[in-house]
Order: sequence, then structure tokens, then C-alpha cells
Amino acid sequence: MSPDAPIGVFDSGVGGLTVLKALVTQLPRERFVYLGDTARLPYGTKSPQTVVRYALQAAEALADYGLKCLVLACNTASAVGLAAVSERIRDVPVIGVIEPGAEAACLASRSGHIAVIATEGTVRGGAYQDAIVRRRSDARVSAVPAQLFVALAEEGLCRGPIAESVARHYLEPLFNARAGGSRPDTLVLGCTHFPMLAEVIRAAAGPDVSIVDSAETTARYVRQTLESRNFAARHGEGSLRLLATDAADRFARIGGRFLERPIRPHEVELVDL
Ligand code: DGL
Repeated sequence: MSPDAPIGVFDSGVGGLTVLKALVTQLPRERFVYLGDTARLPYGTKSPQTVVRYALQAAEALADYGLKCLVLACNTASAVGLAAVSERIRDVPVIGVIEPGAEAACLASRSGHIAVIATEGTVRGGAYQDAIVRRRSDARVSAVPAQLFVALAEEGLCRGPIAESVARHYLEPLFNARAGGSRPDTLVLGCTHFPMLAEVIRAAAGPDVSIVDSAETTARYVRQTLESRNFAARHGEGSLRLLATDAADRFARIGGRFLERPIRPHEVELVDL
């Protein structure tokens, strides 16, 4: 395996660009190939069988680029498809976002009461809940689907009264002390889109709550994995190749906000899976 080989990053659409941004910050010399399955998103409301099938197709398409590592940036695909993809792509490390996010949450939480917000599919699959309890048997996990945040982030409604009211809708029942019992001290943003709404989420959860962004923690984990195997790129400037399965214009327009740099439509290559 050559340190010059690219890192593949897969997501259901543009959301994984938050993970890619964190990866580029951690690993600026790497070559990245990012695939967003824009023709078939959202994954968060689909059945596990369908998500696994889509994730396998995407992983195989990315493997053709001669990767040294594959990152499943999509929380839903990681939650239900990591085992199947790792089984299929055996020659390189396949890294999902759930385990690094769970690890960071367990480290951040003092009380052991951890809240997770994610898509319906991620919450239903129970992967965050399992990964947290496996690390901390005393943990109590309150997991809540927060599907509307996906649409808000894509619409660019990340601040203002609509975003604030949706954040209160999802988070007040979790963090309202009057609900009785213990209040979580840590909140995992278990979806690629949620870091875009971090400000309103933080305001609704309260200033004393630690927010865990699985994009940041996954990027650090990928760097450690590559360094421990001597796979990290040592020279070069790094590069980025963007692939999508549909709507290059929309990918560029919305993706630019997630990546925090403009994307021109002609930079996005359309591929068929
Ligand atoms: N990328 C998905 C995730 O992180 C969110 C968008 C979707 O539902 O496809 O779960």
C-alpha cells in the first residue's frame, strides 16, 4: 500500500463534506476522493437493507480508485453498513464515524448520561447506543431522531427563528431539568449535517453540555490510523476529487457551505453506481 494512494470518503450526499473538511484540516497532504450519493439521498429514512446495498455499491466504486483507506462519513451508512462494507473491502482500513464519536462522548461525559441526535435510521439501528455502552457500562444513552435538521442545513437555515424553534423542539425534552431524572451532560451530533447547526443546538441544549462532533473525532482517528501504519502522505500538497451520482449544480451550491469553500459545478464529476 502506497502512502501516495488516495483516501476515499463516502456519504449519502453533501453532508459528509463536514467530515471531509475536518479530514483536510487534519491531513492536508492527502489526496481525497469524495463520493456523495446525491441520486439516492436521504439514507436516514431508508431501511437498513437498502442503506447496506447502497453503501456496498458506493464502497466498490470508490475502491476502484486504489484507496489506502475508506471513510464512511455518513452516520446512517456507518451505523447499519460498516460491518458489510469492511467485509467486502478487506485490503484497506474502513473507518466509520460511530465508534470515534462514541469514544469521544464517553471521554467527555462525567455523569455517563449521554444524548445522541441523529437520523431516524441511525437511532433505530442502535449503533451509537451500543458503542457507548460497550465502552462505559454505567452509561445511560438518550437517543432522539432529529430529521428536520437535515433539511434545515441543506436549505441554509442554520440560524434564526426557524432553526431555533426546531432545536428547542428536539432538545428541550432532552435537556429540560423539569423533565425529572438526570439531565445528559454530553450531546453527540450523530449526523453529518448537524455541525452546521452547532450554534442553535448549543443554545438549546445549554452552555454546560459538552457537544461532540463526530466529524472532528473521526478525522483525528483516521490520522492516527494512517500514522500508526506508516500510510500517511509525507509530501505533496494534497488534492480533492469530488464525485456525485446526480445534480452537480446542487452539490456545488449546497456543498460549498458544508466544505466552507466555493465548489464550482464543473469540479463535480457525475458517476453511476
Ligand atoms: N449523511 C446522513 C447521516 O449522517 C444524513 C443525510 C441522509 O439522511 O442521507 O446520517
